[in-house]
Amino acid sequence: MIKKEVLDALNAQINAESYSAYLYLSMAAYYENLGLSGFAHWMKVQYQEESAHAIKFFNYVTGRNGKVILKAIDQVPVDFDGIVDVFEKTLIHEIYVTSLINNLMNVAIAASDHASQSFFKWFVDEQVEEEANVEKILATLKLINGEGNGIFMMDRELSQRIFVDPNVAV
Ligand code: FEO
Repeated sequence: MIKKEVLDALNAQINAESYSAYLYLSMAAYYENLGLSGFAHWMKVQYQEESAHAIKFFNYVTGRNGKVILKAIDQVPVDFDGIVDVFEKTLIHEIYVTSLINNLMNVAIAASDHASQSFFKWFVDEQVEEEANVEKILATLKLINGEGNGIFMMDRELSQRIFVDPNVAV
């Protein structure tokens, strides 16, 4: 039986992952409006990843016979201050998500819930990758410094991103 404090934290994280998905979809829309379909594609894949994270939490809760409670998702930003600003906000958001995951782990440790600790480990590792990916893109964007050819090439590169569903065994 899953303890209430862990279940509450899990349900809060389903909401947080859903918010993340919605945030990145909003960023995709922003890039589409700028005519940057590769950047938009990258953000749409990010949306898919975050949705998959929400499902991963969902499956874990139901798998332990817990009740999933889906709460309202907060309004996400719809206006951004240019190409670089979007990725700066993405990095800030992922650092925040890392703190949420660390907090989840702390809740599981305090509750002596070893199964949840084991489950959260996947997300601890995932956040390292998430932050590293965004930092790399941001560093390149800063190097390009708004130069047209560089943006064009980066748009092409970002259009190649492929979604790999973490809920499907390979
Ligand atoms: Fe669900 Fe971007 O972490």
